Amino acid sequence: MTIAKKRTAILISGRGSNMMSLVEAMRDSKYPAEPVIVISNRPDAAGLEWAQSEGVPTLALDHKLYENREHFEGQLHSVLEMSKADLVCLAGFMRILTAGFVEKWRDKLLNIHPALLPAFKGLDTHARALAAGVRIHGCTVHVVRPDMDSGPIIAQAAVPVLDDDTAKTLGERVLAAEHRLYPHALALFARGDARVADERIVLAQGVNQTDSLFSPALGYAEKT
Ligand code: GRF
Repeated sequence: MTIAKKRTAILISGRGSNMMSLVEAMRDSKYPAEPVIVISNRPDAAGLEWAQSEGVPTLALDHKLYENREHFEGQLHSVLEMSKADLVCLAGFMRILTAGFVEKWRDKLLNIHPALLPAFKGLDTHARALAAGVRIHGCTVHVVRPDMDSGPIIAQAAVPVLDDDTAKTLGERVLAAEHRLYPHALALFARGDARVADERIVLAQGVNQTDSLFSPALGYAEKT
């Protein structure tokens, strides 16, 4: 049986490791999405070369060459339409998108954020999580709404914070979780198994997972 694949554009600004994890997942013939274009607002983004080598069309859309945000987004919108994109995944895309653009792609635009939203919106999430002393940090994939790092949450991964963590070591473990979470969340959404209803995500199968993640793990005191 052939499955209808959602034509998916991926927007990056740099390294592109989340984009890579999405493109790699999309190689599976049963995955419900296919990459139609990778776009970077920075021409020197390392991820562009990788996508090209994978045979995915790429485009550098240098935001600095546009008079203002609206002109840049107008061009971005045209390219996405020309690519016949059904879905757009932001993957380390470091430009704020205006409400006008976000509304044009309402319920078709996803983002990954390196924190358990709604905690730690914005930048430097790992350092802020450490400063706040949280025991559990993580990452979130959500449907994009005009307010920064907000919108219906599709999926999250929880990452325990270790005593000797630095922003770097914690960030590396969160990134490893991101690489597993984004393909998972996109698959749910592309298949229609996760859909927006009343500004929350409803999962077709519900959730039957009841175990809690304890950090530190239960039994920690006995071991020390
Ligand atoms: C990721 O941590 C992502 O959550 C955040 O920016 C980072 C991008 O990394 N929005 P990469 O370009 O995907 O490697």
